[in-house]
Amino acid sequence: MNLVLLGPPGAGKGTQAKLLEDSRSLVKLSTGDMLRAAVAAGTELGRKAGDIMERGQLVPDALVINLIAERLDEDGSGRGVVLDGFPRTLAQAEALDRLFKERGKRLDRVIVMAVDDEALVERIAGRFACAKCGEGYHDAHKRPLRPQVCDRCGGTEFVRRPDDNEAVVRSRLKAYHTQTKPLIDYYTRQGRVKTVDGMADIGTVAKEIGRALDG
Ligand code: AP5
Ligand code: MG
Repeated sequence: MNLVLLGPPGAGKGTQAKLLEDSRSLVKLSTGDMLRAAVAAGTELGRKAGDIMERGQLVPDALVINLIAERLDEDGSGRGVVLDGFPRTLAQAEALDRLFKERGKRLDRVIVMAVDDEALVERIAGRFACAKCGEGYHDAHKRPLRPQVCDRCGGTEFVRRPDDNEAVVRSRLKAYHTQTKPLIDYYTRQGRVKTVDGMADIGTVAKEIGRALDG
């Protein structure tokens, strides 16, 4: 099964993609994570993308389409992929259709995560992650079971993203509404969309996604 999680910044795409990776053995492909890794490694892609990301704007289509094309050819993606943060523009959605077609695959479902804009700023401002394994947490909604110790790997260092401040979140939201939201119509016309209530708690959202995929 191949699926896309579509929603604004803070909707819970990364959180749910991780759960789907664990529960359904899908390969999680997150363009945000790939770009952050490129920035951290100081690659040419990272140098091109870093400033754009810090402003909360979208990285050029060709760069992210290339990233996804490479990953779709890697071992394991044949099991099925869950795309987190891609596609984000019409050009990316059309490229994805083409990439799947060339590989004899198809996109089975697009899960739209519906959330209130006001809730997103709170979610994003409270977010942090384990510096070692990347497991995501939230100050109010998902704290490590033992204070300052990662549930997944035992790491004790945590990091916050440089684009997680209010001004940048606002421009990320603007990019979502102008460039990404139109994809809901694009995929609705293809009959692939299921909308879930992203305002529910993490476990409830996961169950709703499960029903949307199996139903
Ligand atoms: P990206 O990394 O994709 O960021 P984003 O879309 O802004 O989304 P986030 O990662 O902030 O939110 P999320 O939906 O994953 O929420 P999460 O699960 O963490 O992109 C970053 C940048 O890279 C872009 O701005 C752009 O510059 C560039 N980029 C990436 N892809 C691109 C592309 N395709 N084209 C062009 N440029 C691209 O949850 C948020 C918080 O809330 C967490 O703390 C979590 O624990 C908590 N939480 C999650 N679910 C719930 C819930 N149900 N209830 C309460 N709390 C919850
Ligand atoms: Mg994310």
